[in-house]
Amino acid sequence: MIEIKDLCAEIDGKKILRGVNLVVLPGEIHAIMGPNGAGKSTLAKVLAGHPSYTVTSGEVLFKGKNLLEMEPEERAHGGLFMSFQYPVEIPGVSNIQFLRTAYNANRKARGEAELSHTEFEALLDAKMRLVDIKQEFKERNLNEGFSGGEKKRNEILQMAILQPSVAILDETDSGLDIDAMRVVASGVNRIMNPEMGLILITHYQRLLDYIVPNFVHVMVDGQIVHSGGPEQALELEARGYDWLKSAPKKEVEG
Ligand SMILES: Nc1ncnc2c1ncn2[C@@H]1O[C@H](COP(=O)(O)OP(=O)(O)OP(=O)(O)O)[C@@H](O)[C@H]1O
Ligand SMILES: [Mg+2]
Repeated sequence: MIEIKDLCAEIDGKKILRGVNLVVLPGEIHAIMGPNGAGKSTLAKVLAGHPSYTVTSGEVLFKGKNLLEMEPEERAHGGLFMSFQYPVEIPGVSNIQFLRTAYNANRKARGEAELSHTEFEALLDAKMRLVDIKQEFKERNLNEGFSGGEKKRNEILQMAILQPSVAILDETDSGLDIDAMRVVASGVNRIMNPEMGLILITHYQRLLDYIVPNFVHVMVDGQIVHSGGPEQALELEARGYDWLKSAPKKEVEG
């Protein structure tokens, strides 16, 4: 589904990713943990096609195609979804306009007919119930004045609408209160399906109680230095990351 091989990337001449390897198959949930500044968000942004980063070597295959050669829109149309650590505000564009445009662009790219306003609104209403978002958020400008938790919920709403084949969620749990985290997690679990791959970037084991990953990876200094099963998250919570910073690279494949 997505296969990352020895990916190296830099920004303004500063090396951030130093050989990332990761394979996500359909139906799998992979958590990426690791200390601040390790390169987790950078990996997400490079996969999304953020123009500030330069890929210096390595390869990424997305459904067998060379992802790095695709324009950011092509990646999105192809079913790659990214929820950012800091969602952007777009004044002047209502949430429903934004969602419908994104949704119809994907349909168009797949050669499917666009949904009318009424048809789209019916779909949106169903998905809003899934993540428990109030009706007023339809007409509000995208992310403008949304609280941190509301932005995160709204990102999950976007994911529910777009039904991606690979989703990367960067710290979707940050800033969520406990109830919101449960709602968001159950929304994610309901969106997740056997054809979809999910990468969850998180600092907290807590989220992984609700969204149970198949694999937990630890990124340190731009590399995945350790991989294991869901129990890894508990161990990391107890032991921190220092023991991994000096440890030799260890891979546990399930
Ligand atoms: N524009 C930039 N210029 C210089 N350095 C940058 C730039 N963008 C990112 N970096 C650096 O890249 C490194 C990795 O950042 P990244 O945001 O990927 O870390 P992270 O693992 O997501 O951390 P966190 O857990 O704090 O979110 C950091 O040291 C950061 O300062
Ligand atoms: Mg980050």
